[in-house]
Amino acid sequence: MEDFSNLLSVRRSHRQFTDEPVGEEALTAILRAGLIAPSSKGLHGYEFVVVTDRAKIEALSHCKALGAEFVKDAPLVIVVLGLPEVSDVWIEDASVASTLMLLEAEDLGLGGCWVQVRQRKDKVGRSAEDNTRRVLDIPSEKRVLNLLAFGHKGMERRPQNEERLRWDKVHTDKW
Ligand SMILES: Cc1cc2nc3c(=O)[nH]c(=O)nc-3n(C[C@H](O)[C@H](O)[C@H](O)COP(=O)(O)O)c2cc1C
Repeated sequence: MEDFSNLLSVRRSHRQFTDEPVGEEALTAILRAGLIAPSSKGLHGYEFVVVTDRAKIEALSHCKALGAEFVKDAPLVIVVLGLPEVSDVWIEDASVASTLMLLEAEDLGLGGCWVQVRQRKDKVGRSAEDNTRRVLDIPSEKRVLNLLAFGHKGMERRPQNEERLRWDKVHTDKW
């Protein structure tokens, strides 16, 4: 287990994976991280769809025009849904849960990457959310925030470069 400060620095987006499946224990730990995340009013305005079926993962990799191709090689995809009927701030709830799942995966030595679905379109202009719903039989009232692709790292990545942190984005006492 990483020291938290170090975990933040070694976490990078991983888009190359080995063929090794993600074990049940690791999957449970990742899902736990999502379910334990803080949410507005404790309403948990999200749901997760765990996908390991190769044909479905391949189909998900075509849900949008750019930035999802690599998903086809991931052994595990968690689709993060938002529930507008449960919470008006489902985007925030689902984003916090997604972030904690990515951090948990890194802590387990696995690689992961966020793939945006909401607001994205495929090559012929169809909604990436609708494409994702079609692959997984997701009801139309559920929103699709993102895919989280996970697997054993296919390559190592350098930790974050602390010198490139944008401290100029921080304001104190007034803008
Ligand atoms: C809201 C959001 C959307 C993202 N969408 C994608 C995506 O569609 N495809 C992708 O390959 N990476 C995506 N990423 C990962 C970013 O590209 C990555 O976090 C960024 O380049 C910084 O790299 P790092 O995660 O290694 O620090 C997304 C990240 C966030 C937070």
